[in-house]
Amino acid sequence: MTLDPKIEELRALKAKAREGGGEARIKRQHEKGKLTARERLDLLLDPGSFRELDAFVIHRERNFGMDRPENQILGDSVVTGWGTIHGRLVYVYSQDFTVFGGSLSEAHAEKICKIMDMAIKTGAPVIGLNDSGGARIQEGVASLGGYADIFLRNTLASGVVPQISAVMGPCAGGAVYSPALTDFIFMVKNASYMFVTGPDVVKAVTHEDVTFEELGGAMTHNAISGVSHVAAESEADCLYLIRELLTYLPQNNMEDPPFEPTTDDPLRMEEALNSIVPDSPNKPYDIKDVIRLIVDEGRFYEIHEHYAQNLVIGFARLGGHSVGIVANQPAVLAGVLDIDASVKGARFVRFCDAFNIPIITFEDVPGFLPGVGQEHGGIIRHGAKLLFAYCEATVPKITVITRKAYGGAYCVMNSKHIRGDLNLAWPTAEIAVMGPDGAVNIIHRRELAEAEDPVALKAKLVEEYRQRFANPYVAAARGYVDDVIEPAETRPRLINALEVLRDKRDSNPPKKHSNMPL
Ligand code: HXC
Repeated sequence: MTLDPKIEELRALKAKAREGGGEARIKRQHEKGKLTARERLDLLLDPGSFRELDAFVIHRERNFGMDRPENQILGDSVVTGWGTIHGRLVYVYSQDFTVFGGSLSEAHAEKICKIMDMAIKTGAPVIGLNDSGGARIQEGVASLGGYADIFLRNTLASGVVPQISAVMGPCAGGAVYSPALTDFIFMVKNASYMFVTGPDVVKAVTHEDVTFEELGGAMTHNAISGVSHVAAESEADCLYLIRELLTYLPQNNMEDPPFEPTTDDPLRMEEALNSIVPDSPNKPYDIKDVIRLIVDEGRFYEIHEHYAQNLVIGFARLGGHSVGIVANQPAVLAGVLDIDASVKGARFVRFCDAFNIPIITFEDVPGFLPGVGQEHGGIIRHGAKLLFAYCEATVPKITVITRKAYGGAYCVMNSKHIRGDLNLAWPTAEIAVMGPDGAVNIIHRRELAEAEDPVALKAKLVEEYRQRFANPYVAAARGYVDDVIEPAETRPRLINALEVLRDKRDSNPPKKHSNMPL
């Protein structure tokens, strides 16, 4: 049977669109160790679920030889559409570096805007795979306008549907601001980079010699700038990690995160927790050990693993329900709150609140970090972000004080006063204005100066102070902690509390929006 010529034409056009920039450029992409836009979508989405839109779109530029037939590439430099991840709908775009270096034309931007508009209307996440030389140089301002159209949609979609960006190649100039407006940025080690101006411009302006990797590579943005949230080992790893992240998130702000049945006993007592906090208040322990012992199957999906490691954030499940975890890390800088940790925590708390994910806070914090650098860097303003985020959040909020809860940091880390729903303390908790050493130095300064044996006196006073305040019972007597629990029973207590709080309703006064201290 001969094929209808119209069907034949359609098939030929679709095959042509799938070729992108052609065989030679696909080969070049592979030689660089990179996958093509379509190969990436194959790994990201459930097999066979991708439905492409706008495969026939062509750019409209007529100058610089762009009207020649070989430059009229079907679909232009981005592949867009929808598909599923673990059976749930997502919208995707994947920039095709084999077509004009994945550069953004007016038509390319329109394709992205179309799927973003659909995502907002139908309430499903947007995932962007970025690999682009930036603005289509031949198109000038039409391309810049296209970027701005995307930025607007990123902003309007923020807090409505989860937005995830993977940077899998170059991402430079103003192009960085679309990923920057999204919720999570994934980068691939030694394969992707982001910067506003590249090494050449940096050299010309500031005379600094810097490589692409040092200036804007994956580890630079994961460990130093905090721009990126996850550093993947490879493209495949990156796409796998995005799939996994989505399992913790709802489709949109009107839904709850998905429930995942677990075989981990909700009543599991964890005796190891009873001895995990060292006897000496100055000895560190790893809060991630605590988290893993408590959550379902020990699975903790860490966000910002390499950045501001004195605060640990990430997703886990308790009794099958998704939770966001914010935890001071005594193993790094004694768990102190500094500028970077405050900003890291604040953004995460706001994400969880926007997407109906309860927040569990593990607290062991000696306070805010002192120092000229921190003060001049604006620890007041940045610390206020974390405070603001916790105060504003209306999702279920539970705190477990494992050890220190000192000073302003006591108030900030989801205290009862800022609408903590259930605040638990372990018997090892120390809740006070400051640590015994600092407190004694201030309130007994004169006696210490006049003492015959100031060392012995100080030791005695520190011990007295510790007896009086370095415990959870003074706070518990006022109801500032709701219960003092055995560490071993933390998992059952948290799961029970989450159940009780499942239908929690709370809101903030009506307003256009708040004015958080940015
Ligand atoms: C049009 C572009 C392009 C661009 C690359 N190409 N960038 N075409 N506009 N912005 C084309 C190249 O001409 C080449 O075409 C193909 O893509 C692959 O590029 P190569 O240079 O061969 O690849 P590679 O060596 O891997 O280098 C990649 C690169 C480099 C580092 C991204 O191409 C580059 O520096 N491009 C320009 C980046 C840039 O300055 N963009 C504008 C930034 S300003 P052929 O036909 O040879 O295969 C900006 C403002 C946005 O983006 C503002 C938003 C608010």
